[in-house]
Amino acid sequence: MQILNTKQELLQQVEACKRQGKTIGLVPTMGALHQGHASLVKRAVVENDVCFVSVFVNPTQFNNKEDLAKYPRNIERDAKLLESIGAHFVFAPTPEEMYTAEEMNTTFQYDFEGLDKVMEGKMRPGHFNGVVQVVSRLFYLVQPTRAYFGEKDFQQLAIIHQMVERSKLKDTFGDLTIVDCPIVRQADGLALSSRNERLTEAENKLATNIYRILKESVESAKKGYSVQAIEKQVTDAINAIDGLEVEYYEIVDQSTLMPAKDFTHAIGCVTVYCGPVRLIDNIKY
Ligand code: PAF
Repeated sequence: MQILNTKQELLQQVEACKRQGKTIGLVPTMGALHQGHASLVKRAVVENDVCFVSVFVNPTQFNNKEDLAKYPRNIERDAKLLESIGAHFVFAPTPEEMYTAEEMNTTFQYDFEGLDKVMEGKMRPGHFNGVVQVVSRLFYLVQPTRAYFGEKDFQQLAIIHQMVERSKLKDTFGDLTIVDCPIVRQADGLALSSRNERLTEAENKLATNIYRILKESVESAKKGYSVQAIEKQVTDAINAIDGLEVEYYEIVDQSTLMPAKDFTHAIGCVTVYCGPVRLIDNIKY
């Protein structure tokens, strides 16, 4: 496995792969890798001739400087894990390598046709502009055949699908396929996240209630409860646990992310503060 720190090194490798007619799998990450990321990388290794993983804590998608500063970073540990599961190249640039000073400071404005105005987008203004800025740059540099993303960040995935569909019209990313990968959970149900590293053991245990309550809500939905009743049930049940606080729980249509009228093609997305740590999860109905 080779670690590449500059765009030039990356382009050299990408061009060599393209010349040899190899398919390329890309797994974009912000590092602090866990078994959720590993599942994406393993799949990319199996499904493509070559697997590139980017490890880059993208400053333009953080609207909270403290959150950016506290984001866990450990490239040595990440590289060991990636090597052990067969990744071929790790692209780990500095912010200065990725962006000009102007790009770093100008808030890029994409039109997501409303997908960015709800849930995460409402709570973290500008977040998805930063995500699309970095992901589109990575697609442009790596020219992947397939790119792998986890369903835990469901809204991010919906926005990336929209970006790629639109860019296909303009032929920017060729025949790129976005591969949706299921959430990986601890044995007790907590969705794996780099942010879990910041939870104490007690907080981690507390946070396992989130998925338990989401699963219970699926049973209530089967019994005929309304969307609004389930939103209230989940919010109240999580808030009743000392140490957990719901920021939002919304049941939305999986494609439009607009409030669901019933449970057909619906997904419930939740953000919960567990102590100071902001966790997200979701469940399909
Ligand atoms: O999901 C993430 O880790 C990030 O948002 C991504 C897609 C790597 C872009 O920085």
